[in-house]
Amino acid sequence: FCEDLRSSLYFVNASVQEVVFASTTGTLVPCPAVGVPPVSLRWYLATSEEIYDVPGIRHVHPNGTLQIFNIPPSSFSKLIHDTTYYCTAENPSGRIRSQDVHIKAVLREPYTVRVEDQKAMRGNVAVFKCIIPSSVEAYITVVSWEKDTMSINAEICLTQ
Ligand SMILES: *[C@@H]1O[C@H](CO)[C@@H](O)[C@H](O)[C@H]1NC(C)=O
Ligand SMILES: *[C@@H]1O[C@H](CO)[C@@H](O)[C@H](O)[C@H]1NC(C)=O
Repeated sequence: FCEDLRSSLYFVNASVQEVVFASTTGTLVPCPAVGVPPVSLRWYLATSEEIYDVPGIRHVHPNGTLQIFNIPPSSFSKLIHDTTYYCTAENPSGRIRSQDVHIKAVLREPYTVRVEDQKAMRGNVAVFKCIIPSSVEAYITVVSWEKDTMSINAEICLTQ
């Protein structure tokens, strides 16, 4: 046999394992493989089904980048917008597979946070929790607490 030393095939970057994006912006996910001769890049669902283009929803560009377009909440499909993909790169040297990439669109929905009343004996500790709807909880950070529109610093203890 004769091995062609000029041929190569490899991933330049570890693929990201999680892509979380706002459904209103969409996202582009490259398949970061290169090779000589040039590679052909394909995307699959974790179930090994090769993915197909869905006009205005999902597209694989000729350069191998997977694009998930921005969508209104009514077009959300778990099979496209919250699912696991991987890509492969192939040339005459062989075929390599990326790690699984979980791609998740977060819907931009209005939400409200609230605090429940608490009772405590004078001189005792009362604990207040910021209650966030579970659908958005993973993406929300509590940045401040306010009392009568005044921000409460972590050092201040309200005792009464
Ligand atoms: C590899 O990752 C770096 C840093 O994240 C990025 O700048 C570069 O474009 C990536 N290369 C490819 C081919 O995706
Ligand atoms: C691939 O092509 C798309 C569409 O032209 C472009 O938006 C994207 O930046 C390209 N990605 C890379 C890694 O070249």
